[in-house]
Amino acid sequence: MTDTIKPHGLANRTSNYGDRAFALYLRKTFAKSMGYSHAMLDKPVVGIADTGSDFNNCHRTAPELVEAVKRGVLAAGGLPLAFPTVSLCEPSLTPCSMHFRNLMALDTEAMLAAQPMDVAVLVGGCDKTVPAQLMAAISAGVPSVMLVTGPMLAQPFEGERLSACTDCRRFWARYRAGEVTEERIGQLEGKLATTAGTCGVMGTASTMACIAATLGFMPLEAASIPAVHADRLRIAEEAGAQAVRLITRPVAPQALMTPESLENAMRVLLALGGSTNAVVHLAAIAGRAGLAFDLDRLDALSEETPVLVDLKPTGEGYMEDFHAAGGMRALLWELRGLLHLDTQDLDGIPLRDRIGDGTHYVDRRYIKAFDAPVSPVGGLVTLRGSLAPDGAILKRSAATPALFETEARCMVFDGLEDLARRIDDPELDVTPQDILVLKNAGPRSPAGMPEAGYLPIPKKLARQGVKDMVRMSDCRMSGTAFGTVVLHIAPEAAVGGPLALARTGDRIRLSVKERRLDLLVDAAELAQRRAEWAAAPAPARGWDRLVHDQVMQAPEGADLRFLRASWG
Ligand code: FES
Repeated sequence: MTDTIKPHGLANRTSNYGDRAFALYLRKTFAKSMGYSHAMLDKPVVGIADTGSDFNNCHRTAPELVEAVKRGVLAAGGLPLAFPTVSLCEPSLTPCSMHFRNLMALDTEAMLAAQPMDVAVLVGGCDKTVPAQLMAAISAGVPSVMLVTGPMLAQPFEGERLSACTDCRRFWARYRAGEVTEERIGQLEGKLATTAGTCGVMGTASTMACIAATLGFMPLEAASIPAVHADRLRIAEEAGAQAVRLITRPVAPQALMTPESLENAMRVLLALGGSTNAVVHLAAIAGRAGLAFDLDRLDALSEETPVLVDLKPTGEGYMEDFHAAGGMRALLWELRGLLHLDTQDLDGIPLRDRIGDGTHYVDRRYIKAFDAPVSPVGGLVTLRGSLAPDGAILKRSAATPALFETEARCMVFDGLEDLARRIDDPELDVTPQDILVLKNAGPRSPAGMPEAGYLPIPKKLARQGVKDMVRMSDCRMSGTAFGTVVLHIAPEAAVGGPLALARTGDRIRLSVKERRLDLLVDAAELAQRRAEWAAAPAPARGWDRLVHDQVMQAPEGADLRFLRASWG
């Protein structure tokens, strides 16, 4: 095998002391201290981005996945070398994980580009990690196989099944409404995430795994194999073997990110009823490949792409059900008439061949037939208007249709602290018909675009049985959440977008039918407010300062400007 491989290996990217032969000699001398034989050090190198971290429960299985990848690499004739990178777990970071997605992408890109590897396997999983790693691979230009940790299993509990994090939100909402006791909510805490793996619903992690598989960065079945299933280790071993195949037939990550594959990814996102966060991440990944993400195209595709997958947060199933039901192969087979089937994966296999011949098993409880969908139209719509000149997103599949056409008074919260301080105030002047607005939570704000768009229903209304209200903001929503929630309003308030000018008592009009989001305040009044508006001071230093100075808006993926494919 190795005879057929062009052996870059440790000779790749040597330091330059003016004598490259000495640099390689020195490198091998130090590598010898790890006990490798000369023959091993002459092999091509597969770098393994290891994101195991005690702060990242979703990556708890990273050590055994890395071991399995190493087996696959060794058996195929390569030298596997694992290295750590930044690892991001949704609930473990402040101000939020999104604030650090680009840091992980930058760290991973730098390590991919600087270290002596021929190809890489990227072990990711939790929400921000997969987009960060794909962004990094494209920018570094290092051929890379994606390996996700896989979803957790749902837990049977008192006649129902539970999994993070749709059920976490469901019970917490009932707790806020007084329907679940303090003791009960404490008991449930131990029942919602009971195995290793990423959230068990069609949240952001699962959506991004399905998209990565569609793009060809990993086999289709790899998107949904549960984290604790033995097949997950076998697919890790295969990732190692696939990486070695890539050495003889390198495929730049950028080659998988074409206008056609981007459109396939959008279709899949829509058919999954997937996470709104994937819109931001896809825009960022596409941007690294020099492609523009078109929100209006997404909206147009949404009108002709049915939702075919029936999983929580909008349906009933969990990721293990999707996997057992046929997974991505079955879904893509149903969608085949809408897809660009010539797009290729890392092995050069066109999508047409990857989806098989239709003889696969499919469980229609979770993966619907194209002509009998969950919904005839996709889950996402793009809104524009005077409140969102550059766009906003609504997940209509998770919203209340009766609220799609709403004109109402708004209650504005100036930021997350204001929200936390007042939302449960019994004196809050709010009715179920009002629109709740949160500003100063976008990508440039100190909040860093958190998943706070799912504003809690004010406690006094929740206790009256109110389950949903129109809510809107410049931040994101968890892919596991649901409700009539307008997200990613752009430009955000922190850069002086119209959202910055909204005040409690203003009227706002939402029309899903017309795709409009308008602030109904006259121009003279807005001009007056604009004159009074001032941007918050920039952070003094460090990563926060770099984000402040460089971050782009949500429709551009909230990437850092200088990290895009072309900038200036
Ligand atoms: Fe990691 Fe949900 S918290 S995937």
